[in-house]
Amino acid sequence: MLTDKRILLIVAGGIAAYKTPELVRLIAKAGGSTRVILTDAGAQFVTPMTLGSVSGDTVYDDLFSLTEESDMGHIQLSREADLVVVAPATADLMAKMATGLATDLASTTLLATDKPVMIAPAMNVRMWEHAATQQNLQTLSARGVHMVGPEEGDMACGEYGMGRMAEPAYILAAIQSFFQASNRLMGQRALVTSGPTHEAIDPVRYIANRSSGKQGHAIAAALAAMGAETTLVSGPTNLPDPAGVHMVHVQSARNMLDACESALPAHIAVCAAAVADWRPADEAASKMKKLPGEAPAPLSLSENPDILRTLGAAGNKRPGLLIGFAAETDSVVENAQKKRLSKGCDWILANDVSAGTGTFGGDENVIHLVDEHGVEDWPRLSKIAVAQKLANRIVDTLEASR
Ligand code: CTP
Repeated sequence: MLTDKRILLIVAGGIAAYKTPELVRLIAKAGGSTRVILTDAGAQFVTPMTLGSVSGDTVYDDLFSLTEESDMGHIQLSREADLVVVAPATADLMAKMATGLATDLASTTLLATDKPVMIAPAMNVRMWEHAATQQNLQTLSARGVHMVGPEEGDMACGEYGMGRMAEPAYILAAIQSFFQASNRLMGQRALVTSGPTHEAIDPVRYIANRSSGKQGHAIAAALAAMGAETTLVSGPTNLPDPAGVHMVHVQSARNMLDACESALPAHIAVCAAAVADWRPADEAASKMKKLPGEAPAPLSLSENPDILRTLGAAGNKRPGLLIGFAAETDSVVENAQKKRLSKGCDWILANDVSAGTGTFGGDENVIHLVDEHGVEDWPRLSKIAVAQKLANRIVDTLEASR
């Protein structure tokens, strides 16, 4: 049920806009209320009159309308909802959201809101697959925007593929599970590590690895979206800070360990960072010079602290549910089982990072979850879906142990 939940529905200009009155009706039937913003392009596919009569309210469409601004400014519009739903979310509106453009009431409201946002993308398959749209999607996911759909099927333009807006009943189900999920980890403290570490050789050079941080960031975003008080400790990445997390940026493994220890106690910890196992034994205080005719100085290495193992052995400070990853190229599951025991953690998410799998830096992951009971093989999933699945499993486990 959606009793007393207020949805701000933003209807953009796609043919699927004609399905939004049905969505408004379903939300009302579930006990929620809807206020609608309709873009100019959206109004080509569905009339303000139709949306106004199903929502029982004015349909807002004009950023500069004096009456609307005085009765209901866009800031107020964006703040008084419990959830902002964009359906259909066109490629254009997603691009505006990703870059922070505010050119009309819809995009301005999306920039001004401090409320959770869910998008139901709808567009032609080529537009959906375009690198620009995919990158915008990544940016929005990393910021904690929730997604529903799109689906695969026949398109209004005659093509077939991914890009159809999820059906209204499906969007309603996503809204309902958002509200159910959003407090399932309330009162829980979570710690997540992400990204690579940089181990300094001298002031300009460092040792690093190919980790993008996508998986760790997505996990932190998913836990925060379920209400956990989440600290994300990350090495250097190109990703935006996920919404709703307490972010700690670090460089080296030793910085990461300090930040993790400061974030304790935690009920849940997920170590997704690709921590460098070794660091240069002596960091040069000034830039190492290349001297003509001289052989390069050998680089001697020292072992870094193992953060997961340290957390696993932290006695009464050990997180209640401690989860690690295992990046493997051979005997993936066997090595993960050994790692789970040697690092003292509860679950290991093992993944194959061999060349050609595209896991490191890519958008997808194939996980084998190893716990005390055995192994669970997950299908190939986007890193965002892996994060969601993991968060659900964490919630189920914690709820079962209460
Ligand atoms: N890990 C950690 N600190 C380290 C090394 C690894 O916290 N210094 C964590 C990772 O975040 C991951 C798990 O340990 O959750 C396993 O990391 P992985 O790189 O697969 O294993 P290593 O311990 O580095 O062992 P190896 O490289 O020999 O497989």
